[in-house]
Amino acid sequence: MSVDELYRPGLEGIPAAKSSISFIDGKQGILEYRGIRIEELAEKSSFLETAYLLIWGELPSNQELKDFEHDIRYHRRIKYRIRDMMKCFPESGHPMDSLQASAAALGLFYSKRALDDPIYIRNAVVRLLAKIPTMVAAFQLMRKGNDPVQPCDDLDYAANFLYMLSEREPDELAARVFDVCLTLHAEHSMNASTFSAMVTASTLTDPYAVIASAVGTLGGPLHGGANEEVIEMLETIGSPENAAAYVDDCVVKKKKIMGFGHRVYKVKDPRATILQELAEQLFDKFGGDRYYDIAVELERHVENRLGGKGIYANVDFYSGLVYRKLGIPTDLFTPLFAIARVAGWLAHWKEQLEENRIFRPTQIYVGERERVYTHLFER
Ligand code: CMC
Repeated sequence: MSVDELYRPGLEGIPAAKSSISFIDGKQGILEYRGIRIEELAEKSSFLETAYLLIWGELPSNQELKDFEHDIRYHRRIKYRIRDMMKCFPESGHPMDSLQASAAALGLFYSKRALDDPIYIRNAVVRLLAKIPTMVAAFQLMRKGNDPVQPCDDLDYAANFLYMLSEREPDELAARVFDVCLTLHAEHSMNASTFSAMVTASTLTDPYAVIASAVGTLGGPLHGGANEEVIEMLETIGSPENAAAYVDDCVVKKKKIMGFGHRVYKVKDPRATILQELAEQLFDKFGGDRYYDIAVELERHVENRLGGKGIYANVDFYSGLVYRKLGIPTDLFTPLFAIARVAGWLAHWKEQLEENRIFRPTQIYVGERERVYTHLFER
C-alpha cells in the first residue's frame, strides 16, 4: 500500500475505540445517548439525569437521581485559593483559557489518584460537574471587577448557573431552555475534544488533567469555538439581504461558513433543529433578535449552494442565538459547551479506564535519513 493509501488525515473513518455511550447516524441525522434519542432526552430529561445516564449507562432510579443532584449541589463551591488564582488571570484573557487552567488546578487539591476505586470515580464526577460552572461564572464576574457570586442551594443546576452570572433568579423558561442546551451538548461520540480526553485518560493520569486537556481542545474555531464565530459572522453580514452574497463570496473564496458542515452529519444536525425551536420559544416570550432573520436566510442559501455536498447547519449555528437571548456574552458560549460536555468526557474517561490501553498510534516518516551533522562554524 502506498503512503497516501495508508495515511488518513484527521484519522477520518478510523475507529479508535469501541464505545456504547452515543450513536450517530450522520446520513439520517440521528443522535442517541446510550440508545435513547436526543429529541426524547431534550423533551423529557434534565441535564443531570442525562449526565448520569451517559456516565453510568442507565437512567438513575428516583433515589439515585436525588442523591446525585444533592451531591452536586453541595460541591458547587470552589476553594478560595482557586478564586484567588483566577483573580490573577488577565481580564482580557479568553474564558476558555481560564477554565482550562482552573480545571487543571483542581487536580492540585484532589491529588489522590485511585482509578480503580468506584468511590474515587464518583467523587471526581461530582466535583467536576459541580465546580466547572462555578469556575466559569466566577471568571466572568471577576474579569468585570466584581466578586464571584456564591452558588445558590435552592436552585437546580441550570438555574444556579444563570443565577451565578447575573445574581438574579432566572426566568423559568430561560432556565429550562438552558438545561436543554446542556443536554444537547453533553456528548457527541469521538470528536476532537473527546479523543483528546481519551488520549490523556489512557495514560492513567488524574481526571482533572483529562478534563483540562479536553477543554483546551474544545476551544478551537473548528470545534466548540465555532458558535462564537457564528455571531461575529451574522454581525458582519448585517442584514438578511446580504446573506446570499456572503454565501457566494465564501464559495468562490473557498472560505468555511461557520456553524455549517460536520465530519459525520451530512444532513441538518438534529441538535440544530431543537436549538432553533428553543430560540423561537425564547423570542416568543422575550422578543425577537434581528440576527435570527439573518441566520434563517443564511441557512436557506447555504442549503441551496452547499446542500449537495452534505453541508448543513450544525449544533453551533443556532446555539449562539439562544445564548444571546439568555443574556450570555459571546465569549462564554464555548465555556457553556464545555460545562455540558464534561458529562460526555467523563463518560469516555470511565469507559476508557474499564478497558485501558495507552494510545500510541504510529506515523509515516517522510523526512530525511542518515544525515551528517555539520558544526555550527561550518553552517
Ligand atoms: N462552509 C463551506 N464549505 C464547507 C464547510 C463550511 N462550513 N464545511 C465543509 N465545507 C466544504 C470544504 O470546503 C470541503 O470542500 P471541497 O471538498 O470542495 O474541498 C468539503 O466541504 C469537506 O470539508 P472538510 O473541511 O474536509 O470537512 P471536515 O469533515 O474535515 O470538517 C468541519 C468538518 C466541522 C471542521 C467543517 O465543516 C468546518 O470547518 N465547519 C465550520 C466550523 C464549524 O462550524 N465547526 C463546528 C463543528 S460542529 C460542533 C463541534 O464539533 O464542535
